Amino acid sequence: MKVLVTGGLGFIGSHTVVELQNEGFEVVIIDDLSNSSLDVLDGIVAITGKKPDFEQIDLREKASVQEFFKKHNDVSGIIHFAASKAVGESVQNPLLYYENNLGTLVYLLQELQNKDKAHFIFSSSCTVYGQAEKMPITEDAPIQVAMSPYGNTKQIGEEIITDTTKVTGINAILLRYFNPVGSHESTEIGELPKGTPQNLIPFITQTAIGLREQLSVFGDDYPTADGTCIRDYIHVVDLAKAHVKALKRLVNNENVDKVETFNLGTGKGNSVLEVINAFEKVSGKKLNYKIVGRREGDITEAYANTTKANDVLGWKAELPIEEALASAWKWEQKVRGK
Ligand code: WQD
Repeated sequence: MKVLVTGGLGFIGSHTVVELQNEGFEVVIIDDLSNSSLDVLDGIVAITGKKPDFEQIDLREKASVQEFFKKHNDVSGIIHFAASKAVGESVQNPLLYYENNLGTLVYLLQELQNKDKAHFIFSSSCTVYGQAEKMPITEDAPIQVAMSPYGNTKQIGEEIITDTTKVTGINAILLRYFNPVGSHESTEIGELPKGTPQNLIPFITQTAIGLREQLSVFGDDYPTADGTCIRDYIHVVDLAKAHVKALKRLVNNENVDKVETFNLGTGKGNSVLEVINAFEKVSGKKLNYKIVGRREGDITEAYANTTKANDVLGWKAELPIEEALASAWKWEQKVRGK
């Protein structure tokens, strides 16, 4: 079966393409290269020896999406990563997010709706839970009012898919990621944030390599043991493998409901300061950081209850945060030619 991976040259997308190819899936990638580059395709080939089909398409162009599916009419599975994902930017430019994250989702589902059987895996986020009441977070934790248009597009996206599965041959899995980090052990692919990194790990590695002066730790006055926020940092390779498990579940019709939801995390929370200490240990570098004020919109704590993913999806995160940090550091050094 040929599977379409949208955003397949992105951070999580490229790692998922590698794992899909490792499992024998034929992959075609759509990417608009707005947040990636063709070098990533070379990286995938360097790892697997197999070159996926690639088409540079802006999914906001409905005609281009229709043309793609005319050409690739044997695609009956989509893993949909392509989306804008910067929380702060979404507040400044909501319509960009609603068009790019939701308009494109509708066009893709419209291409699958007339197939007898089709499979759709959606890149969602733990952000839908906001600050959950209870830790670790289960899939039936209440969905909070979104704190940003980005988070809202994940919530609405889940609803669009759920409604569509009710009246079509599409079965779907919604994967709610916690915090994806790290890179492939080969250092052929990894995280390539454009401009100033929003996320913690790339900012840490860019500071350690001297690209950034200093890391700002956004607040140490949270109600946690060391005062800094807690997150569930999951190795991107573990995350990628969960997508293959999810696709196989749908293709083999093992899913109980037309649409299922899984939290993808390690089940363990780490504070910002714990991550910094772990990074200093694995890299042997002293990190230059300072505590500053809180970042608008940050929640105190989020880490996954992984029971459902372990027992139902048959998937478990294997790689510890130290491995994720070590691989992220190796990747940063390679990218900067150090
Ligand atoms: C982690 C922790 C920050 C940067 C976001 C999105 C989520 C997903 C992952 C897309 C927080 C602290 C960070 C820095 C810091 N994105 N931090 N200094 O905010 O948990 O999740 O990215 O799918 O949907 O919400 O991740 O890496 O930005 O922050 O102190 O320079 O690190 O305050 O506590 P976050 P993050």
